[in-house]
Amino acid sequence: PRPILLTRHGESQDNVRGRIGGDSILSEAGEIYSKKLANFIKKRLKSEKTASIWTSTLQRTILTATPIVGFPKIQWRALEEINSGACDGMTYEEIKRNMPEEYESRLKDKLRYRYPRGESYLDVIQRLEPVIIELERQRAPVVVISHQAVLRALYAYFADRPLKEIPQIEVPLHTIIEIQMGVTGVQEKRYKLID
Ligand code: F6P
Repeated sequence: PRPILLTRHGESQDNVRGRIGGDSILSEAGEIYSKKLANFIKKRLKSEKTASIWTSTLQRTILTATPIVGFPKIQWRALEEINSGACDGMTYEEIKRNMPEEYESRLKDKLRYRYPRGESYLDVIQRLEPVIIELERQRAPVVVISHQAVLRALYAYFADRPLKEIPQIEVPLHTIIEIQMGVTGVQEKRYKLID
């Protein structure tokens, strides 16, 4: 069995402000997480000869991976957060106030709702296909540092959760989800590194 470790980036400045999307850097708590994560990975993958660290192309995931040393890092555009198009950079409150129809449509069908000039969860699931194929092909452990919507979709794939649940799956910050693929099926552990 080989592990796949899934985690969101450390808390970003936009997370603190409640703004979606964007390309902000880490908050202080996010930086602390990046160091704790590096420590955790060092111990967890101590006995592994090879492993790789996958991030998106957004700063917050690259910065979260920075303290990790000794393993190759790969950036994937396909691991970028759901594209919130016209709503990028807004808070949920601002969307509700300024674009009430958009807000309502998303509430009604979060899986299929597509942001104006952006993506839906279904779009994200589709663009993740090459990432999943490559993840399945890997023999060594992979650490995936990505974003909330993307990790919901990846997690659902490995944990065999139904499509309709995906937009609601809990993927908290500062938590590592370890997935073990064995002959007997999939096992899961969660490690919370900061409260
Ligand atoms: O708030 C963090 C974030 O990653 C946003 O960038 C993104 O739009 C959102 O979460 C996705 O979560 P939800 O689909 O619940 O809005």
